[in-house]
Amino acid sequence: MRKQIVAGNWKMNNDLAQTETLITNLKGQVKTTKAEVMIAPTFTNLWQAYQTLKDTEIEVIAQNMHFAESGAYTGEISASMLKSVGVKTVILGHSERREYFGETDEILAKKVDAALTNDLRTIFCFGEVLADRKSGNHEAVVESQIKNALFHLDASAFKNIVLAYEPVWAIGTGETASPEQAQDMHAFIRKTLANKYGADVANNMSILYGGSVKPNNAQEIFGKPDVDGGLIGGAALNADDFFAIVNAF
Ligand code: G3P
Repeated sequence: MRKQIVAGNWKMNNDLAQTETLITNLKGQVKTTKAEVMIAPTFTNLWQAYQTLKDTEIEVIAQNMHFAESGAYTGEISASMLKSVGVKTVILGHSERREYFGETDEILAKKVDAALTNDLRTIFCFGEVLADRKSGNHEAVVESQIKNALFHLDASAFKNIVLAYEPVWAIGTGETASPEQAQDMHAFIRKTLANKYGADVANNMSILYGGSVKPNNAQEIFGKPDVDGGLIGGAALNADDFFAIVNAF
């Protein structure tokens, strides 16, 4: 049975006081859930969040990391620095990193390698823009993103990888992909994995959907056979909404 996961990507939101308020509210809602629950605060709030939540069901994860172990990379954070504040999982390849910070498939392959070398689990993000979807090129784009960043890996590496399909046109727009669109793409991704690495890797891979997941659509999306949870943005900033999604399984 592959893992069901709901992860909240806080993006560039919440200062220390706001983080303390939100994680206190989240802590109050945690009960045994079917899904693994994660939240990704900003770097400045990781330690506070980790200290508050370390004895709960909620894992504190990072939104990004650099591929270098250390050095002259002003403003960057390394895998070992994340591990030093209790982080065991890192989001890589988010479309906002690709768009605003020029993260290419090649850079992301190096980041995935660095995460694996440091025994960090990776939630690897990918997804097409609206023009690709409208032109019917969405599967080719997603296949390329996955192959270019991940298909140099051995099959054994995939036990430390979670995939997150996030159609860019659905992120922050309220234009959620339909459950059928999500299922079709997740099934395609799983088939692409199976063709390269075999059925075991493909069937054990958790594939999350991200892009305007809300309390009123989560259950239908998560109910699809190849959807194993969600990567949540805006709705993760409200404890009630986030746990309404967590409990949608
Ligand atoms: O990483 C998750 C994020 O991109 C989705 O954002 O606000 O559409 O749930 P949102």
